[in-house]
Amino acid sequence: MCAEIAQKIQTAMKNHEQWRQNCLNLIPSENLTSPQVRAMLGSDFGHRYAWDEPWYGGQKYTIKIEDFAVTVAKKLFGAEYANVRPLSGHLSLMSAIMGLCQPNDTIVISNYENGGYPLNLQARFPLDVQYLPYKPDRYTMNVPRAVELINRVNPRLVILGASFFLQPHPVKELSKVTKEAGAVLVYDGSHVLGLIAGDQFQNPFQEGAQILLGSTHKTFFGPQGGIILVKDDMDLAEQIDLTLRPNPVLVDNYHHHRVAALAIALAELLEFGKEYAKQVVENAQVLAHNLAAKDIPVIGTEWGFTSSHQVLLQTDSLKQGIKVRDQLEKANIIADAGVRLGSQEVTRRGMKADKMQEIAELFSRLLVTKESPERIKQNVHALVQQFQAIHYCFDS
Ligand SMILES: Cc1ncc(COP(=O)(O)O)c(C=O)c1O
Repeated sequence: MCAEIAQKIQTAMKNHEQWRQNCLNLIPSENLTSPQVRAMLGSDFGHRYAWDEPWYGGQKYTIKIEDFAVTVAKKLFGAEYANVRPLSGHLSLMSAIMGLCQPNDTIVISNYENGGYPLNLQARFPLDVQYLPYKPDRYTMNVPRAVELINRVNPRLVILGASFFLQPHPVKELSKVTKEAGAVLVYDGSHVLGLIAGDQFQNPFQEGAQILLGSTHKTFFGPQGGIILVKDDMDLAEQIDLTLRPNPVLVDNYHHHRVAALAIALAELLEFGKEYAKQVVENAQVLAHNLAAKDIPVIGTEWGFTSSHQVLLQTDSLKQGIKVRDQLEKANIIADAGVRLGSQEVTRRGMKADKMQEIAELFSRLLVTKESPERIKQNVHALVQQFQAIHYCFDS
């Protein structure tokens, strides 16, 4: 029975890989890693332990890996402090909150209905969570009211950044009032970290954020994990650091194989990040404009649809979003129920703006003229066959 289960899992993995290689993946939270990054993830590093104290033997080669990653991360983002230990974007946010807040402190963040990350920490940790005010379009922050809120509630943290993230957040506009309120401005760049690395989205540090953190596997094309960067306030860095070492609260063994893979992805972004991120944003814009031109409702006509990797389709309800997602999946086009589309993975496969026009045409045939998904699937297959290699990485 056990061997059978192992066999079934192997078969599932093979089927999954074969299928997803032939799909058009437009989920904005995912990406593909390079062969060098994958080699690290499958290496012996993944069998070993990592800890600060000189406790474990066998560390002759692993000992320097974290230093490599931290050095490149600091250079890439212009930070004085970097921590590559968080095992996910979520944990990087938890580290900042737990490191910097006392029980009953107030934090200010975006609500889910305005595209915010659905943080549910207050259910377990006594925090007063206040939500940033938005304009009726749901995605543009109401800056004067946000200033008023920060002045009124005296928060410990103001957290900007979002999960539905189409246009920059008002970091510059809120940094002064945040400072005056004695609060710390944290930027959750989980979705846009690769674009920030490539200098194609707002730079939170230059605009006044003190902390930049997030996932390392969305537009940032590294292994699944998280990162925390502090611009120059080493007191803040020290408080966050305490949640991750030496008697860690949130992460103990920080996984050499992930950190080694991350170091390579950081180096790839340092070398190719500008070119990659520029193409990601251009592709998202071309996709959005072409979808809208084909009568597919896209959110954000007023602000030119998108400045990031995301394109957001207008749906009336989650139920309708699920219906659209399922219809797309019948044609091997993978999206979420948001319906959010992301251009980062197809860009990493080498697609340029002309292919975004083709993708918009496939959407139109499927969702507007209601052609059979089976027919569209054949076109998807023909398209992705031409883009099987990973771009923006070093030769193996
Ligand atoms: C804004 C934001 N922050 C944090 C997270 C959590 O990231 P992870 O999935 O790496 O834990 C997400 C997840 O999508 C997110 O959108």
